[in-house]
Amino acid sequence: MNSNDPFSTVRHPVDRALATAVAEDGEEDVRADWYREFGETLGGHVRRHLDARPGYFVLSGLDHLSEEQARRFTVAVSRLAGELLPQDGAGALLRDVRDRGVRLGEGATGRYSDSRQGGSLHTDAAHRPGRLPDIFTLFCVRQASSGGALVTVHVSDLLEILRGHPEELAALRLPVHFDTRDDTPGVPLTTERPVLEFTDGRERMYYLRDYIEIGHRHAHVPALTPEQVKALDLLDSLLERRDLQTHGRLAPGEMIFIDNRSIVHGRTAFDEDGPVDGGRLMLRTWIGLPARHGAGAGAGAGADTDAGAVR
Ligand SMILES: [Fe+2]
Repeated sequence: MNSNDPFSTVRHPVDRALATAVAEDGEEDVRADWYREFGETLGGHVRRHLDARPGYFVLSGLDHLSEEQARRFTVAVSRLAGELLPQDGAGALLRDVRDRGVRLGEGATGRYSDSRQGGSLHTDAAHRPGRLPDIFTLFCVRQASSGGALVTVHVSDLLEILRGHPEELAALRLPVHFDTRDDTPGVPLTTERPVLEFTDGRERMYYLRDYIEIGHRHAHVPALTPEQVKALDLLDSLLERRDLQTHGRLAPGEMIFIDNRSIVHGRTAFDEDGPVDGGRLMLRTWIGLPARHGAGAGAGAGADTDAGAVR
C-alpha cells in the first residue's frame, strides 16, 4: 500500500494551546487532568497504530512551537509514551539528527544520523549494547529543500517472503556483531545480537548492514559465513524493493512515532539550497515500553480516548 502520503490516515492534530502547555509546563504538571488525558490519547495511538499496521503515527499542527519549545515538547511527549532511553555514552535523551558532514561508517564513530545519505534501511540502536528502543520519534523542525523523505518497510512483509527461503531465514536468526560506533574507553567494539528474533510474542528486527560489515572486520570477530552473507544480501534486496516501501515526508511541526520493532526505516538522500535556514533538522528520542506487553504506554496505558485530535 503506497499512497502519495502514507501519513494521511495516521495524522493526529494536536490542539495548539495544549501543545504549548505541554512544551511549557508538561513535565511540572504531570498529575493534572489535562496532562493525564493527553497521555491516554497518546497511549491509544500507540496501541492502534504501532502494535498493528502501519507501525507509525504522526502528531501534527506543532509548527507554532519555537525550536526550544519543540525540544521540550518532544521530550515531554516521549515520556508520556514510555521510558526515555539514552542515545549515546553521555546519556543524551534528545538528539539532533542533521547533516554533520560525515558519511556512514566513516572513521570510528561516523553514523547514519549524522549524514545526508539515503538508503541503508535499518532499525535504530541495533549497534548499541543494552536495552533498545521499542519506539523512536522524530520531530521535524526544518525539512530539507529536496529529498529527505522517510522510507519504511514492515517486518511482517519481509517475513512473508523470507518464509519461502528457510535457509536464509534461519541464518538471520544467528547472532552477528554490530560495530558499536563508539570509541569511548570501556565501551566494547561490537555488540552481538541476531538480525531477526522472536521475543515478547513478536518478531523483532535489528539491522544496519554497514555496522555488521564493520563489526566483522575487527580482528577478534569471526567472519560472516557464506550462508549469513547470502541471507543478508537477500534481506537487502527485499529492503530495496519499492513495492515493499512507503515514502512519506514530514512537514515542519510534525512529530512521527515509529515502531522500532516492526519497522525498518531510512530516508531518501537530501540536498540543501544553502545554509540560510540551518538545514534539515529532526529531533529524535528513543523510547522503551514495558517488556511484558510492549504496548502499555506510560501514563497513556488507560482507556483509548482517541477522538482524532489529541486533547
Ligand atoms: Fe534511524
